[in-house]
Amino acid sequence: MAGCHTRCLPIVALLVAFLHGSFCHSGVNKNSDLQRKIYAEVHNAPACVRLLNATGTVGCAADPVAAPLLPLGNAATDPVPDGRMVVVSEDQLSIVLQRLQADAALHERVKGILVIRGSPASLTPADRFPLAAYAPYSNQGFAWNQNGTGVSMLDIGPVPVFLLEGVMAAQAQQRAEHNAVKGFNGPLHEAELDATMFAAGNASACITQGSCLPLGGHSVWAALPPMPVSGGDSKPIVIVTAGIDSTAFFHDRTKGADAPLSGLIAMLAAAEVLGNSSYADVYRKRLVFAAFAGEPWGYMGSKRFLWELHSRENSTLGLSLEQIEQVVEIGQVGRAADKSGQSAFYLHFQREAQFGAADDLVKAFLRAGDDKAEVSEASSHNPGIPPSSLMSFLRVKPSISGVVLEEFNTHFINPFFQSRLDANISAEAVTSAAIVAARALHETAYGTSEVPPLKIARSAVHATVAALVGCLLMGEPGLGCPLADELISPISRPEPAHYISTLPFLGQDSQDPDIAMKMDIERFIWNFLASRTASGPVAGSAGKQGGCDFSSRRCEEGAVCVGFRAVVKGSAGRGRCLRGTAKYVPSYSTRFGCKDCQQGNPFQWALSNSSLDWEAASAWPPDPMWTESNWPPGGVPSYKFYQREADGREIYMLTAGIFVTLLSFAGTTAAQAVYQRQLKQR
Ligand SMILES: *[C@@H]1O[C@H](CO)[C@@H](O)[C@H](O)[C@H]1NC(C)=O
Ligand SMILES: *[C@@H]1O[C@H](CO)[C@@H](O)[C@H](O)[C@H]1NC(C)=O
Ligand SMILES: *[C@@H]1O[C@H](CO)[C@@H](O)[C@H](O)[C@H]1NC(C)=O
Ligand SMILES: *[C@@H]1O[C@H](CO)[C@@H](O)[C@H](O)[C@H]1NC(C)=O
Ligand SMILES: *[C@@H]1O[C@H](CO)[C@@H](O)[C@H](O)[C@H]1NC(C)=O
Ligand SMILES: *[C@@H]1O[C@H](CO)[C@@H](O)[C@H](O)[C@H]1NC(C)=O
Ligand SMILES: *[C@@H]1O[C@H](CO)[C@@H](O)[C@H](O)[C@H]1NC(C)=O
Repeated sequence: MAGCHTRCLPIVALLVAFLHGSFCHSGVNKNSDLQRKIYAEVHNAPACVRLLNATGTVGCAADPVAAPLLPLGNAATDPVPDGRMVVVSEDQLSIVLQRLQADAALHERVKGILVIRGSPASLTPADRFPLAAYAPYSNQGFAWNQNGTGVSMLDIGPVPVFLLEGVMAAQAQQRAEHNAVKGFNGPLHEAELDATMFAAGNASACITQGSCLPLGGHSVWAALPPMPVSGGDSKPIVIVTAGIDSTAFFHDRTKGADAPLSGLIAMLAAAEVLGNSSYADVYRKRLVFAAFAGEPWGYMGSKRFLWELHSRENSTLGLSLEQIEQVVEIGQVGRAADKSGQSAFYLHFQREAQFGAADDLVKAFLRAGDDKAEVSEASSHNPGIPPSSLMSFLRVKPSISGVVLEEFNTHFINPFFQSRLDANISAEAVTSAAIVAARALHETAYGTSEVPPLKIARSAVHATVAALVGCLLMGEPGLGCPLADELISPISRPEPAHYISTLPFLGQDSQDPDIAMKMDIERFIWNFLASRTASGPVAGSAGKQGGCDFSSRRCEEGAVCVGFRAVVKGSAGRGRCLRGTAKYVPSYSTRFGCKDCQQGNPFQWALSNSSLDWEAASAWPPDPMWTESNWPPGGVPSYKFYQREADGREIYMLTAGIFVTLLSFAGTTAAQAVYQRQLKQR
């Protein structure tokens, strides 16, 4: 029943509202305690929030506003009179938003938008070519995401937009219909919305004022075989990448199942397969599994990784750009399977001579197909690689040979890219992708012509994939899964967050696994990769004397502390020292840094120019500097529904008021008793 505390309260409020409403069409009362019970009210609601980038604002920021509800059946044509709060299905949200952009007068008239969940055949608020400016080719009009509406990047300004969930959606519809049936005469149902945002202008301004925080988190990488204790060696490096997080119009409602979790889960499972085999020690090349955070935001994770690599930060210790020869990205693979479980994958790569030739990688992948997975080259009529982290690598080092494994050939087949409906993936498809990738990486890393075959038990890979889907994508078990319990102490048990959200501060040491600094999913990926790529326990280390932690019982050089659970006190929370290499790499705009960090002052974000020369050398597009506005504490964004009295009913109100108050108290007491009994039963 996790989450019921927050979900049950509005139900109690509704119950009372119902009791109340059945005796009297009233909702106006000055007693604020009572008011809270009468009104149907939701705090911390999913809403359109304001993001700020280098040049301006995106999303919504609105002072509290109240207006009667208007049902909008046909968003394209229905007239909207002045001062209405429109209730619209999510199928039609993009149409409403595009109408507002095109019609300034309409933008003035609409006071807010309440969105009801629907079941559209397609929903993708991303652009038709997401992040086109980063492409290593000029055809930026190519529609990889054919149904993309681009509304996620609109500056909607002072019109609040909320997603209604559960009983509140039905409430809004009923109230709006009631208003329509009554012809907007008499007592009307209204909504009051609060989407107050503190930041305005642009990212430079708000970071300097402290009214916003950078979007940010941590990427993770791990090496197979692990780095030698003495530091790096000269083995060529094959980077294997996937993304961690996604976004949606209502950011924190994203699930990112196909993009990027299907690729991430396939990569994690492939790492387990390869780590299980005994070949890693004889690989001529080193595999580096890298899960990048923040890629939807100007490829923030891979860009920051390359910048930290260039700046020789501890987060990339042992790696160098010179050694990186190949990049294999596992993109959207979760919808690759047909009904019979047969999957089709496509290899995307840059064919032009100025980029590293991908022939060897392509051949290895073509050979890796089997009777469950058909692997082919993507169409040579494509302008080049689809949106991917590989774009970052090719920008900084064009001689890298890279491929992106995808479920699509010429355009996304996932109709829900970067929307909350990207929620479904096939474990068969992800299993096939993991096996294909493992075989191809084995051949690539082995590095000679006589490659011994890699033994793979499909059922074991399937079990790992299913477990990872349960941990990372499901509400149940979510991070309450056994796999997570072995590795971390999740601070929230259900499904992990799939939106990167903000990075409040940087720790002294980027590797600190403190729960205040690292999200659950980041610590899970770090521990999973560290445990699967490690070559074995370290003898005579903290591991033997009651386990390791991140303070007094650190593992020796060249070892990682796996399974350290900071919130479990004493030896039970300690981890095991394994010979391995795994690192966190911060992910946030290259244009931000810590203000006066060396002085021991409290942490404060500031602007930084230190990356500008490096960015200019590779002609990066201007850094978007993504930030999220701060908003007032205590429940914003929030909304409530109530019924306003028609004019001239005040006298009636006065006489009815006392009666109503008494009834409400009775109802409240009854409802609270019910609620408390439920609490006890749990
Ligand atoms: C950002 O806002 C500041 C302060 O309003 C302004 O001086 C600056 O020109 C803006 N920068 C951009 C790129 O618009
Ligand atoms: C920054 O926001 C503006 C809207 O204010 C938008 O037009 C622009 O595309 C955004 N920049 C990037 C790099 O996304
Ligand atoms: C685009 O949307 C239509 C329906 O709106 C859907 O039938 C189609 O499959 C979608 N195409 C893609 C590539 O998602
Ligand atoms: C996910 O798949 C299941 C079964 O295939 C289906 O019932 C469900 O509607 C799908 N959900 C979404 C969001 O596509
Ligand atoms: C890897 O090895 C472990 C331990 O033997 C086993 O439980 C697991 O199923 C294996 N994973 C794969 C994908 O083969
Ligand atoms: C980087 O690593 C070195 C050697 O392990 C250490 O001395 C130094 O403090 C680290 N720097 C930071 C910023 O953590
Ligand atoms: C960055 O460079 C600009 C232009 O040269 C300068 O005005 C600004 O003060 C610099 N900012 C920092 C933080 O160094």
